[in-house]
Amino acid sequence: MLRRVNELHAKIDQIHADELAHYSEIQGDEFKELFALACPFSMVHVPGFYNVNQSLKYIRDNAIPGDLVECGCALGGVAIFMRLCLTRWGMNRTIHLFDTFVGPPIGSRDTIHGGQELVWSAAMENHRAGTEENIVEATGSLDGFHIVEGFVEQTLPVTSLPELALLRLDTDFYESTRVEFELLYPKLTRGGVLIVDDYGYFQGSRRATDEYLATIRPTPLLNRIDQGVWAGVKP
Ligand SMILES: C[S@@+](CC[C@H](N)C(=O)[O-])C[C@H]1O[C@@H](n2cnc3c(N)ncnc32)[C@H](O)[C@@H]1O
Repeated sequence: MLRRVNELHAKIDQIHADELAHYSEIQGDEFKELFALACPFSMVHVPGFYNVNQSLKYIRDNAIPGDLVECGCALGGVAIFMRLCLTRWGMNRTIHLFDTFVGPPIGSRDTIHGGQELVWSAAMENHRAGTEENIVEATGSLDGFHIVEGFVEQTLPVTSLPELALLRLDTDFYESTRVEFELLYPKLTRGGVLIVDDYGYFQGSRRATDEYLATIRPTPLLNRIDQGVWAGVKP
């Protein structure tokens, strides 16, 4: 059963290690300690993790109310990191996770950074059990996680959620990102954090984001975290 991200991307452990050495401006041991526990289960890069770290500190320090959501949790890396941060700081928020656990809808297509065309052509073996094992291994329990399996286009319209303090969108493609904005952004509390993991990488994710943000005022300041991840605060 798929458990670790290097089963998908053989070089990712080395990439994470090299990246951490590169970001000497990230000071203190806490981030590095928690990142080391979570990164074997994630394809997110160091700046993306640090963005989650800083976002949760901001939510803690400003008492921003609400739960946390990640759409596209895959093997659970970022979700694990969120829980480790919350536990370390004595915070108790439910983490809602949405994923098919078999990959995007077959036939999903996009142009990615650099102009390459990508078409998703084969379903993966379902790895929900592997993700749950990863969460238990790294955090001790599934308590406080709410896992919703299925295509967000189908699950989000029938899932009731409270107000949100953090919304992290990481399902890569246009259709899912568009639905996530329409159904979840209104639930993000004022002052809550919006993270679009694929804005800089998948043209469809960017288009879905730009189209939605063009329909609302005020818009959040969406700032570049790294090549893929862009993030801001709902005004
Ligand atoms: C890039 S991965 C997420 C990485 C993850 N956040 C991490 O920490 O490594 C994208 C995930 O989105 C999920 N996904 C893609 N399209 C989806 C859809 N329409 N509904 C639900 N999940 C979807 C995939 O199954 C995959 O696990």
